[in-house]
Amino acid sequence: MAFPQRRLRRLRRTPTLRRLVAETRLGVDDLVAPLFVREGIDAPHPIGSLPGVVQHTRDSLRAEVKRLRDVGIGAVILFGIPAAKDPEGLGASDPDGIVQVALRDLRDDVGDDVVLMADLCLDEYTDHGHCGLLTPDGLVDNDATLGRYAEAAMAQADAGADVCAPSGMMDGQVMAIRDALDDVGHPEVAILAYAAKYASSLYGPFREAVDVEIAGGGDRRAYQQDMGNAREAMEEIRTDIAEGADMVMVKPALAYLDILARARAEVDVPLAAYHVSGEYSMIKAAAERGWIDGDAVALEHLTAIKRAGADLILTYLAGEVAEVLTA
Ligand code: PBG
Repeated sequence: MAFPQRRLRRLRRTPTLRRLVAETRLGVDDLVAPLFVREGIDAPHPIGSLPGVVQHTRDSLRAEVKRLRDVGIGAVILFGIPAAKDPEGLGASDPDGIVQVALRDLRDDVGDDVVLMADLCLDEYTDHGHCGLLTPDGLVDNDATLGRYAEAAMAQADAGADVCAPSGMMDGQVMAIRDALDDVGHPEVAILAYAAKYASSLYGPFREAVDVEIAGGGDRRAYQQDMGNAREAMEEIRTDIAEGADMVMVKPALAYLDILARARAEVDVPLAAYHVSGEYSMIKAAAERGWIDGDAVALEHLTAIKRAGADLILTYLAGEVAEVLTA
């Protein structure tokens, strides 16, 4: 026998054959667009380290969500930048806080055509930049923070969020939010838990996007996960599901595909992955220099994330990839 009987190249010969046997198909339904809305500005603000992404005004956000809907994107997640920050992050739970106001605008505009998710955390709203309240010693106080998360969840639900997405990595946050939502008559609001969220250097551009600087040059290692820990991620995921998470997330995505695959094998709730700001910016920067084909790498990244097991992918590429997929 000169050649093996089975030649794998036969099914790669034409585009239609390749399409026929494709195991993983990325679609617009998989994508969630993260959007920033800033209080008190009258024109959208570009974000230097996230080319193509802006801090929206209320109006430009409304226009962007309609545009995304029209290219087939079915979900967005909102991040707010308040006009003023304070130690408790009051803007996160103020009924007139920027995200709550934006949720009402968007619900009016798009009804149920777009799933409205709200990131639920304090860091965009606190003057010290941490995801929770601080003790007098400057440590992040887990249990005191849970009360603030509960208040933010109620405000987001009252404003019409479909999904609250707690990203602060406090222990017990999912249970605190589920209880609060149920108590105030919002049992319909779902929770997407940032369950396995690592203390990553890939969030750099996001911090510029939300004007966050952690006080004293600090970091989030006392609440976000250590990059080397995989089994611990499964504990986080199991715990969040037990506390009532409807969906769980792994974040960032590409450096943690093993975690995603492992989570996929272990749990049956919808699994999300966040292709974070640094992952997006690396593509944009290299493409700008002509070193890579940005569109092609974008599809390769997102397909890999889906292949590893994600049902939904939060990505700043959502709009542009939707245009490519539906072209
Ligand atoms: C915290 C939060 C962060 C991101 C999403 N939610 C930043 C952080 O944990 O420091 C990062 C998203 C990204 O980098 O795209 N509210």
